[in-house]
Amino acid sequence: MNKIIRKQQFSEKVFCLEVEAPLIARSCRPGNFIIVRVDNRSERVPYTIAKSDPVKGTLTMVIQEVGKSSTKLCRLNVGDELHDIVGPLGTPSRIENYGTVVCAGGGIGIAAILPILTALKQAGNKVISVLAGRTRELVIMVDDVKKYSDEVIIMTDDGSYGEKGVVTVGVEKVIQREHVDKVLAIGPPVMMKFTSLLAKKYGIPNDVSLNTIMVDGTGMCGACRLTIGGKTRFVCIDGPEFDGDLVDWDEMFKRMGTFKEIETAPEPSEGK
Ligand code: FES
Repeated sequence: MNKIIRKQQFSEKVFCLEVEAPLIARSCRPGNFIIVRVDNRSERVPYTIAKSDPVKGTLTMVIQEVGKSSTKLCRLNVGDELHDIVGPLGTPSRIENYGTVVCAGGGIGIAAILPILTALKQAGNKVISVLAGRTRELVIMVDDVKKYSDEVIIMTDDGSYGEKGVVTVGVEKVIQREHVDKVLAIGPPVMMKFTSLLAKKYGIPNDVSLNTIMVDGTGMCGACRLTIGGKTRFVCIDGPEFDGDLVDWDEMFKRMGTFKEIETAPEPSEGK
């Protein structure tokens, strides 16, 4: 069992939970993810790790209510316990000294990119973070990102925070201003696709994290199977980060719609 020790509401449907998980907190690396089961009747759902504290033995997750399991998780409070957490899983991020790296985070993707940009900064990179959301309240963890960034650019669709415009506007401004060695994008698939295409246009190597496609996160369900560079890859095992230039985005979008009906169907009653 993993006890919740802190809960914070970021916006109407986005919550931050800090939970006890000492073994995972000690061994996880940037880019790793965990699988959470809220109770013994719940499905296993993969979530990214926003922060890990090996001394306190805790993990911080940011969850958006989108389906049954995430809603159940967001309803829990401090003192409640999760049935179990498995991890760390997935292939860790490639952390090197690339030079100047633009880290583009969209919505709750900002939580996923935080440990990676932290490690990139600690590896000696100049980190320029471009954070984006539809509105001000959807641009999260700005102070945490600022601690490990040389510059933070905020973009919102409605102009309620930072500059008005989508993430690619902010990224392109940096690329046109100075030499960029690498772009990393984590957020909604459409945001990652267009950030990756932009980087490709300028010949900049770019990585994306396809974590939103995962279902069981163990390599068994096959839901995260994608064509990457003409080869079949499992996002939960071989990723979740991949070279954005190699991703078959049409296939990615097709797969993302597979479980929509199940997610919106009524919950089966006890015993059925
Ligand atoms: Fe099920 Fe990867 S998420 S196989």
